Amino acid sequence: MLSQIEQLRIDALKNIKEARDISSLDLIWRQYLGRQNGELTKVLRGLKDLPANEKSKVGSLANRTKIEIEEKIKQKRQQLKSIINHESSSINLDLTLPGKKTELGHLHPLTQGKQMVADIFSSMGFEILEGPELETDYYNFEALNIPEGHPARDMWDTFFVKSKIKNQKSKLLLRTHTSPMQVRVMEKRKPPLRVCVIGKCFRHEATDASHEHTLYQVEGFAVDKEISVANLIYTLKTFLNALFKTNVKIRLRPSYFPFTEPSFEVDFACLNCGGKARPPGLRPGEVGRGCPVCSQTGWVEILGSGMIHPEVFKHAGYAKGKYTGFAFGIGLDRLIIMKHKIDDIRWLHSGDLRFIRQF
Ligand code: DAH
Repeated sequence: MLSQIEQLRIDALKNIKEARDISSLDLIWRQYLGRQNGELTKVLRGLKDLPANEKSKVGSLANRTKIEIEEKIKQKRQQLKSIINHESSSINLDLTLPGKKTELGHLHPLTQGKQMVADIFSSMGFEILEGPELETDYYNFEALNIPEGHPARDMWDTFFVKSKIKNQKSKLLLRTHTSPMQVRVMEKRKPPLRVCVIGKCFRHEATDASHEHTLYQVEGFAVDKEISVANLIYTLKTFLNALFKTNVKIRLRPSYFPFTEPSFEVDFACLNCGGKARPPGLRPGEVGRGCPVCSQTGWVEILGSGMIHPEVFKHAGYAKGKYTGFAFGIGLDRLIIMKHKIDDIRWLHSGDLRFIRQF
């Protein structure tokens, strides 16, 4: 009798385990525990006919088995119900709805610009460097022939940083331009040099549509025995042609920078109006407001440049008159807003996705 109950138990548990839906669970219940013909019910009903010595043993095993089967059926019922709930909620899924797109990011327009400029200059044999953003007063000003008290310092007002370094000889500041890299590189190396520094700079600036406190600058310089202004013009023209993918006309205007002599401001013929200072499509005699990109001058100012000043070579430790070199500095942010016709330079550092997604 005992082994019969044990076999019944094994079969019942196996059936419960294999049940795939609630109706088969109901059948199992009826098969073993049903009031009329349940197999276990019948055993329990027959207990009264057993001899007294068997009654308690068989009775307690049959009762334990009954409780166990009831419990297992209950558990399985809950398990099946939760599967059904889950499935019915996924039945609400409308497969005809458009799927969710996984958004792919892309490089920021400034990074794209940096890479483009780096590609062009490296194709011309320039080495690409970055340099430190936290600079010393010495490299940012002194070594570039802008001593303490020089009026030109006003043009490059910046953020000075308190240094914790003991015996720090020169004050620390956030570099205002990438030009300090001229002396840093020349101190360590001998010409011929062809270097392009692309990096972040900072200014203490009242910001507006064309001025930002944080900006990227491209500093280029070449030093050798016979570098001339002709090399400078050729380099700049080649660069601008490659950048704007057209034949760009440039002009040099005399200017002043403490670290170059002579110094030039370089303009290029406005790409919007073709240098005519009139909006495209306007015929002679027609009244128009004039080209907004070049402020009706036909020219767009793009960079400062010149021949490296003897004082700068002196700070680099080069013998007087031994080398000549050209240098130029371009505001990368300005270049990018010109290339993409962006109306406010502050968009570039805004982090505004509505702006960034357009590039
Ligand atoms: N460093 C200058 C600035 O921040 C730009 C510049 C002008 C760089 C003339 C040069 C240069 O190398 O020759 O405004």
